[in-house]
Amino acid sequence: MTKLSTDNRQHKAKLKTKNNNPKSTIRNPKSKKSMSRIYIEDLSKHVGEEVAIHGWLYNKRSSGKIRFLVVRDGTGVLQCVMVKQNLSEEIFNTFDALTQESSFSVTGKVKAEPRSPGGFEMEVSDVKIIHVAKEYPITPKEHGVEYLIDIRHLWLRSSRQHAIMRVRHEIIRAIREFFDNRGFLLMDAPIFTPAACEGTSTLFATDYFDLGKAYLTQSGQLYGEAGAMAFGKVYVFGPTFRAEKSKTRRHLTEFWMVEPEVAFNDLNDNMELAEEFLEHIVQSVLKNRQTELKTLERNTTFLEKVKKPLPKISYEEAVDILRKKGNAFEYGNDFGAADETIISGEFDQPLIVHRYPTEVKAFYMKRDPQNPKLALAMDVLAPEGYGEIIGGSQREDDYDALLSRIKEHNLPQEAFEWYLDLRRYGSVPHAGFGLGVERTVSWICGLEHVRETIPFPRMIYRLTP
Ligand code: 4AD
Ligand code: MG
Repeated sequence: MTKLSTDNRQHKAKLKTKNNNPKSTIRNPKSKKSMSRIYIEDLSKHVGEEVAIHGWLYNKRSSGKIRFLVVRDGTGVLQCVMVKQNLSEEIFNTFDALTQESSFSVTGKVKAEPRSPGGFEMEVSDVKIIHVAKEYPITPKEHGVEYLIDIRHLWLRSSRQHAIMRVRHEIIRAIREFFDNRGFLLMDAPIFTPAACEGTSTLFATDYFDLGKAYLTQSGQLYGEAGAMAFGKVYVFGPTFRAEKSKTRRHLTEFWMVEPEVAFNDLNDNMELAEEFLEHIVQSVLKNRQTELKTLERNTTFLEKVKKPLPKISYEEAVDILRKKGNAFEYGNDFGAADETIISGEFDQPLIVHRYPTEVKAFYMKRDPQNPKLALAMDVLAPEGYGEIIGGSQREDDYDALLSRIKEHNLPQEAFEWYLDLRRYGSVPHAGFGLGVERTVSWICGLEHVRETIPFPRMIYRLTP
């Protein structure tokens, strides 16, 4: 049990009797009027006013008669100055009780202070402790990632994690904005699915009542195709699952993917959509998240170059690059992470690689009419060694061809009858792609590993917290 301070108990009792909501207002005993609670990000609108901030103790320091409480409220941090002669002893002493991450509300006058981190400071007139935190497991000293990831639920409070999560939020906002502005319909795909979409080796299976096995979706694409035939252009956006046995810095078992699908688009249209999309995402982050990129010490030279048109090369040309670099790459294989790094290293923008051998790509991809050994596929490789962030293709729209692919891949035809219907009733050329949110966040933030790009990462060796 945490020992509550006298202040805290009194405060709680007061809240109980008055049935006041501590989140919206607190009483200022002197003025008897409600003190408005504001967020640190809105301080600029309240200079000169007496306001309340509710938050947690980020840091504190003392120099005799002046004490500093640094409060964080999720939107920023604020230095609050306690001057002994202006405060009752009781209030002045709350400083001693407040441990790192203790929750409290602090009231005072907002001052502009250019030397302070956020540009503002507060002259404290009152402090109410809400909860005194036990010894906090994260201190300003350097902790290893392995330690921090075990306490991810607390690590999320740190400034670096804040920066990453805000960039993630901006990326997701920009993704939705891009498609919404172009009249795409957001279409949610199911998570429980009857069959594989991206190969049978990475399926998570679960028992599904009397119906046998259900599989966690690897991609919403097949449903997106039904959507494209119904609405013309749609995007599916949701979590996807892969039982990836790989312990790399790029793989999660649960990740978020956004998948546009457009009726009547061919491979070229698809590549054009992808380059405009990437430009929009990156430029939005550069425009709206400079502070966070600075916190992350991200060099943005390469990001600034993400503009349409992006370079495009065929699989064959990519193989030539590898060979010229002295790599004994065998034509027909898929590129590994190291290969992708070498290929994309030749470019300072995201690189689109198109027309892969059919054997290394999914069953639903259309074959190139010029060369049926090739699939009308495209991958986008991020620069700076971040590897594949987008995978997509033109889809097989011919009933007979698709049925033979399903058989060749030993997929259960029955589970795909509905998908074949899309080729029975008004089939049209169509194309789409999937962008992995976490790999994109990792690249834009310049991170070592995707595990920091999602609030609670799921990997082959991690299911907690
Ligand atoms: O290339 P993938 O497997 O393509 C598809 O799933 C298609 N159905 C998409 C489509 O055409 N609608 O995956 C697409 C992207 C990858 O480029 C990568 O960014 C991400 O999803 N991705 C992963 N991200 C994190 N961890 C993993 N295990 C991932 N697997 C794929
Ligand atoms: Mg892929």
